[in-house]
Amino acid sequence: MKRTLFSVCLSFLSLMTFAATLNSPDNNFRLSFSVNEAGEPVYSLNFKEKTVLKPSKLGLELKNTTSLLSGFTIQKTETSTFDETWKPVWGEVKEIRNNYNELLVTLEQKKEQRTMKIRFRLFNDGLGFRYEFDKQANLNYFQVTDERTEFALTGDHKTFWIPGDYDTNEYCYSTTKLSDVDASKADGVGIGTHGFFAKNAVQTPLMIKTAEKLYISIFEAALVDYSAMHLLIDQKNFVLTSALVPDALGTKAYMQTPHNTPWRTVIVSDKATDILASKTILNLNEPSKIEDPSYIKPQKYIGIWWGMHVPNTMSWNYAHAPNIKLKDTDWNALTPLPQHGANNKNVRRYIDFAAEHGFQGVLVEGWNVGWEDWAFNWKEDVFDFVTPYPDFDIKYLNEYAHSKGVKLIMHHETSSAVTNYERHIDNALDLMIKYGYEAVKTGYVGWIIPRGEKHDGQWMVNHYIRVAEKMAENKIMLNAHEAVRPTGLHRTYPNWLACESARGNEFNAWSAGNPPEHETILPFTRLMGGPMDYTPGIFEIKMRYYEPGNDKQVHTTLAKQLALYITMYSPLQMVADLPENYEKRMDAFQFIKDVAVDWDDTKYLEAEPGDYLTIARKEKNADNWFVGAIADENARTAVIKFDFLDEKTWYVATIYGDAADAHWKANPMVYKIQKVLVNSKTVLKQKLAAGGGAAISLKKAGKQEIKGLKKI
Ligand code: NOJ
Ligand code: CA
Repeated sequence: MKRTLFSVCLSFLSLMTFAATLNSPDNNFRLSFSVNEAGEPVYSLNFKEKTVLKPSKLGLELKNTTSLLSGFTIQKTETSTFDETWKPVWGEVKEIRNNYNELLVTLEQKKEQRTMKIRFRLFNDGLGFRYEFDKQANLNYFQVTDERTEFALTGDHKTFWIPGDYDTNEYCYSTTKLSDVDASKADGVGIGTHGFFAKNAVQTPLMIKTAEKLYISIFEAALVDYSAMHLLIDQKNFVLTSALVPDALGTKAYMQTPHNTPWRTVIVSDKATDILASKTILNLNEPSKIEDPSYIKPQKYIGIWWGMHVPNTMSWNYAHAPNIKLKDTDWNALTPLPQHGANNKNVRRYIDFAAEHGFQGVLVEGWNVGWEDWAFNWKEDVFDFVTPYPDFDIKYLNEYAHSKGVKLIMHHETSSAVTNYERHIDNALDLMIKYGYEAVKTGYVGWIIPRGEKHDGQWMVNHYIRVAEKMAENKIMLNAHEAVRPTGLHRTYPNWLACESARGNEFNAWSAGNPPEHETILPFTRLMGGPMDYTPGIFEIKMRYYEPGNDKQVHTTLAKQLALYITMYSPLQMVADLPENYEKRMDAFQFIKDVAVDWDDTKYLEAEPGDYLTIARKEKNADNWFVGAIADENARTAVIKFDFLDEKTWYVATIYGDAADAHWKANPMVYKIQKVLVNSKTVLKQKLAAGGGAAISLKKAGKQEIKGLKKI
């Protein structure tokens, strides 16, 4: 670790105005900061002599007191540089360099006798800054009615956006110019809780591409004790302004000094692959709070799950009993439904399948009473998280799983009755510990209780962190669905393996689904903040297999489902389809069995948001590499240079590609598997079908293989 003081260029223009500049360590970025004549803090950002952000104002609007927007003078500036390399508990790479130059400005509102600090960190791939409030006599408790951070863009850029919404991120992306954003037109069909608040509102992470071919990602890091940031677009001047998620009373954040806001981030490059490689969000988060991470195990898991999402297969509920009350129900008196998924026989079958194929976890949804009447009724006592249905023998099934080297994964669907969950969480944890559960999937379907709170507001942001901390105290891994989108907090809480927090694969089962471009956009947006439990690996693509006449389907080829294990980074990957669908295609299933979930290194080979991406990853503590390449609705040829492989070494490449006549809609399930020899000089031209993909596993070749296999 290295922290030294260095000088920045300061120029006093007049008594009122002031300017400072800061360069990134590689000098590609330049930040300028000033206070204008109205005492408003203003910053701008350049990359390689191109303007990224024109002068943009900073500040917050407060309730019942003078806002922190103007009337500022500079009290002090401090600069420093930082360079450290750290090792994540799990990740896309084994080491991460955290290298930035910092400018800390202390601003004073003389009239109010208050100070506000702005801390800027300039990395080689972009900027992070936040507001900091020291403890002080005239700024103790305060309420933020909105944050007014501006990002003044240079023109009407192309943007990949989902509409501003306080309760969900489960939308399809639209790609339009900033001036054409219209959040009122976004299709919320199939999304449990959604709401519209402004036509010009979009969510972050926001991905932008300029006419000059600059890629810009605007987001936040370390969202703690504050509400999530959306952006309002000035559609004439292209200034984006922060808009925070309100609470039940319309307030955006409650602060008590000392307090910081989350970091606002602007990651920029002229190469799309650099955006994917950025570690700035992680670097702006606090180091791990978990002293002994030995219980944290990246893993693949299967689950009694997809059967509930596809038609006519399984149910969460045990009986047909609409409008039941949890406390008044005699579960043993109800008639079980034949399709109840979480029954002893079915769970045993899944445990056997996991053990046979080497998967560590089995998620079981629908194991606990309450699913007869669980969602959208804004109901308080919906689940107790401790009472299994009569046909789920929790003791026996956990013992059976453990005898086979497998662990069951707990499911806590809160139905967004969050106060109810907090009341029961200690008992729920006792139950998990008693039976040896090591991981939990939480869920927040429905409108939040306390009523009027939002999924992405400060109260819920604090709840998700409380749960992550509680799970860490009990050495439990966490996967949260419908939670606020991640902002790199998995650095601080590495037991928080993944979140859903975007439109996952499940939408393909019961809604219009995810268009073929969806998975080419998510890595540039939602995944900027952390891993997604996307639940890939669907082999039975068309829903008519389950229900004649049903025209819903997964919008990819089968080979693309394999590639998603590489392109959608997560240390927790579901093997999502039904065991019987894999048993019919064991040759393609081999890739899912082989693919790693934790990595020493990652190479982002080609990418264009909305169109395609190709990524190579090296398995942690092993010589194996895996490559995933995906296309949007247009067929293409991925050009894969294997120059990342060890020199002078032959590797057996098993290529799981689309068959020549594959097409995501017309013919999605045809694939071709080839085994060939490659080395660091090989360049493979791999055809990807429309909505298609390819997955490649690479293992060092033995003598026999070098003799027997074809070189390409
Ligand atoms: C929505 C989650 O995303 C899904 O995975 C889960 O099965 C259902 N809620 C029920 O909890
Ligand atoms: Ca496209």
